[in-house]
Amino acid sequence: MKSSKPRVFVTRPIPGPGISMLKKKGYKVDLQPKDIDISSRALTSAVKEYDAILSLLTNRFDAKILNAAGPQLKVISNYAVGYDNIDIEAAKNKSIIVANTPCQEVSNAVSEHTFALILSLSRRIVEADAFTRAKKYSGWDPNLLIGRDLGGLTLGVIGLGNIGKGVVHRAVKGFGMKVLYNDMKQDPSFEKEYGAVYVTQKDLLKQSDIVSLHVPLLPTTRHLINEKTLKLMKRDSILINTARGPIVDETAVLHVLYENKLGGYGLDVLECEPSIDCNPNDYYELKELNTVIMTPHIASATIAARDAMSRIAAENIIETIEGKSPIHKII
Ligand code: GLV
Ligand code: GLV
Repeated sequence: MKSSKPRVFVTRPIPGPGISMLKKKGYKVDLQPKDIDISSRALTSAVKEYDAILSLLTNRFDAKILNAAGPQLKVISNYAVGYDNIDIEAAKNKSIIVANTPCQEVSNAVSEHTFALILSLSRRIVEADAFTRAKKYSGWDPNLLIGRDLGGLTLGVIGLGNIGKGVVHRAVKGFGMKVLYNDMKQDPSFEKEYGAVYVTQKDLLKQSDIVSLHVPLLPTTRHLINEKTLKLMKRDSILINTARGPIVDETAVLHVLYENKLGGYGLDVLECEPSIDCNPNDYYELKELNTVIMTPHIASATIAARDAMSRIAAENIIETIEGKSPIHKII
């Protein structure tokens, strides 16, 4: 006989309290046991069968998969802040709730990782570590590995959501930086608190020493940084991307880095993730450059952030099943 318990599918093992929260509710929780991404075929089966899916940002819910969903599917709870992996229009047409996990813990983790990249590039930490390990250090040298200090430099933040705000907070309060920002809307009280100045994207790119991206991936933000917009940036400026890879035209950035027309690129997200060669035929490669520091999409990989994401992802499902509107509902 078919169980009447709500059925939840978790697409991959996640850390934190979420899974036990769902089990405690008495739901039937099926966990895809392997620590790999599930196939689109398995995802298509899941949308036909389950009441709720706890998904990862690597699970692509396109219109084809969502159109195959049965009427029992009420919610897709994405274990992420970003939800560009889900076709929101298609979910809306099927009346499936989509929810995500924004929270202070994730904003803190991503803001701190943004600064880890900024500091590593401006103080040449990765290069310095490699130098020291290679036993090239032969005595104090006043000209060795000179970088830039951040105080007085101008940070340009594109996208003033919670993460963008966390980055500005650290820039102003921690490092005495000046801040320019651009967003769809202006925030006068935030401007007052941090001395942040609202400018057009064009002026931001022209005037900033460090440009940090904190917008979601949307058709309007895809390749926001491209050959043309890169030309606006200062020659020694640094670009930071802890948002989504395709916001940056990686090939265009590689070319300006090779031509010494950009100071550096610090990235936690790749355009063709997980490949570091979006363009395998290109002669240039990210990994060849000291002016590039890349990390494998770990900006939110702290214990506190992972726990909070896990709890919120479960809450989104519990609230939906209990007939409430999830607090972190997108649609
Ligand atoms: C991670 O990239 C997230 O969107 O949470
Ligand atoms: C994340 O919470 C954001 O709004 O940027």
